Amino acid sequence: MVLKIEELHLHYVTMRGMLKAVDGISLEIGSGEALGLVGESGCGKTSMSLGITRLLPSNVSEYKGSIELEGRELMKLSKEEFRSDINWKKISMVFQGAMNSLNPVIRVGIQVAEPLVVHEKMRKQEAKERVLEIFERVGLPPETFDRYAHELSGGMKQRVVIAMALLLNPPLIILDEPTSALDVSIQAQVMNLLKQLKKERNMAMIFITHDIALSSDISDKMAVMYGGRIVEFGTSEQVINDPRHPYTQKLLASTPLLRSYNEPEFIPGAPPDLVSPPTGCNYHPRCHMVMDVCSRKDPPTAYPEEGQRVECWLYGEENE
Ligand SMILES: Nc1ncnc2c1ncn2[C@@H]1O[C@H](COP(=O)(O)OP(=O)(O)O)[C@@H](O)[C@H]1O
Ligand SMILES: [Mg+2]
Repeated sequence: MVLKIEELHLHYVTMRGMLKAVDGISLEIGSGEALGLVGESGCGKTSMSLGITRLLPSNVSEYKGSIELEGRELMKLSKEEFRSDINWKKISMVFQGAMNSLNPVIRVGIQVAEPLVVHEKMRKQEAKERVLEIFERVGLPPETFDRYAHELSGGMKQRVVIAMALLLNPPLIILDEPTSALDVSIQAQVMNLLKQLKKERNMAMIFITHDIALSSDISDKMAVMYGGRIVEFGTSEQVINDPRHPYTQKLLASTPLLRSYNEPEFIPGAPPDLVSPPTGCNYHPRCHMVMDVCSRKDPPTAYPEEGQRVECWLYGEENE
């Protein structure tokens, strides 16, 4: 097991009150496995990754749970230990929109080499060689080293930030919507690159997207997030071919690529307000299978099949 998360919570202080962006999340990722994390915008995907990498915004009010990386409890590490032992070396992250926040006045090669020189105390020439190696791996020609961000296409900039994340060969890499800002054809190239890297490096990844079809293309397992919780977890086959949670079913029906014979469906209603979420199951106001109990009590966790986990009253033993 590379990563094991239990009951992770991350709440923010806001003007309107406490916002539960991550509200008790548990998941596991095996070595070399890709986990697709899917869900509508605002469901807490980015917050969860900030929690895993401990890159917390200043208004976080609650941060608790267990995060075990290769058997080591990360929550017990001090800030300094986390920074020196974990960030980049053990877990690296490609941020949502990172390719657009490359420094415009520093050559991209220098930006990529920086962690090697600063954290690893590597000599500049050695760092440059290492960066050129990684550039080759991600399909960037050596000239890219001396380019500025504005001289590169979107696809190339995305390759640069992926190269940065791979630099210290971490066992886990988190990619937050890495292809959302790219044209479809470039998106396919970056997806192919990620699949290839995953195979070559036996690297575990969390691939975050709002696009369930895109996610199924690369993921071994999938986690469906709704309102700060993971409502369904399973292998990609289970989630795609045998979705259990009504939300997962609607999410799939709203994806034209996967259900090509039918018109894509629209999920009625809006995502929950995470400051004052609905009682009982978060999803009940939008659910097409809603029952009386759903608004009264939190849903139970059920395991319909080996490897499959769902939070829903439809599968609860105590189904009333
Ligand atoms: N720093 C913050 N302070 C307050 N609320 C935040 C902050 N960051 C995100 N949120 C809120 O937390 C919820 C989850 O956001 P986010 O993690 O960005 O979701 P996603 O990545 O799935 O779109 C949203 O309601 C968002 O508005
Ligand atoms: Mg996000």
